[in-house]
Amino acid sequence: MAGQAPAFARVGHQVVATLTETAPEVVAEAAARAVLSASGRTPWVLQVFTPDTPRGNALAPFAESLEAAVAARLPAERRVEDAQRAREAGAVLFSLCVAPDGVTVVGAVTAREAVSLAPGGRRRMRRAGDAPSRAAMKLEEALDGLAFEPGRGDVCADLGAAPGGWTQRLVSRGAKVVAVDPARLMPELTGHARVKHVQESAFSYAPDEPVDWLFCDMAWRPLEVAQLLAKWGRRGWAQHLVANIKLPMKDKNPILLRVRHTLTQEGGWEGLTVRQLYHDRDEVTVTAHKLK
Ligand SMILES: C[S@@+](CC[C@H](N)C(=O)[O-])C[C@H]1O[C@@H](n2cnc3c(N)ncnc32)[C@H](O)[C@@H]1O
Repeated sequence: MAGQAPAFARVGHQVVATLTETAPEVVAEAAARAVLSASGRTPWVLQVFTPDTPRGNALAPFAESLEAAVAARLPAERRVEDAQRAREAGAVLFSLCVAPDGVTVVGAVTAREAVSLAPGGRRRMRRAGDAPSRAAMKLEEALDGLAFEPGRGDVCADLGAAPGGWTQRLVSRGAKVVAVDPARLMPELTGHARVKHVQESAFSYAPDEPVDWLFCDMAWRPLEVAQLLAKWGRRGWAQHLVANIKLPMKDKNPILLRVRHTLTQEGGWEGLTVRQLYHDRDEVTVTAHKLK
């Protein structure tokens, strides 16, 4: 849809060159020339990725050496160290996609408009030793893309919190969490001073007073979850929203359009982003905020 970043794409960039040479030196030279002519005098950051397939992954060592060879041919004074800083510096993010059969595609996008700042959209994370599930990695990946992050002293509501991966990540950042879920939390969270477990359905829960952050990872029907999040928005119960919406159905887009509409038109949530993160499965993660 015009003006909206695609929800189900890992990367999106303009192709500035498609190279079919195979000799490493020749590929590096041609890729560097393409980057130089596209970057002009703007700061740049370079990433390399391979398609997320067995054949693509086998090319990882070549891709890594290509990244170094291309970077060595580019002006070091305009280099930005990493993609996160590239966003702040207004830099262009160049991606070299090293594909099978000797094809290398050079893509460019301004870092601020990039769908993901991770190479190829694959945000890799070591599993945190104390996290109970992959859910925690979804949360960390979602927080990566935000201008603000929940921190010390913030009050968070976590709807569909059990067994507690998100709640655990939030308290480890210093936040206080009201964890709403009929199911049990993991033992280390039950007696935690900054965790209040409300063991009831999120559909019947109302906060005593507005919170800073609304998190939601409820395994429930997407349109009903969207209605619930819209209610929180309309009533001004939270300032920031991070929610994972389950989309187990085959035809996801019509549902997603309705979810978007409900959140923005009925809930008044602003700055909505909708993305299937690297750690998401049949689901998307939405973020939004309320204007003060
Ligand atoms: C994917 S799990 C959440 C995982 C959690 N974010 C974590 O990091 O551990 C989905 C949860 O949604 C909860 N859930 C489903 N319906 C709910 C409802 N009406 N109210 C509250 N929680 C609900 C389930 O009990 C389940 O614990």
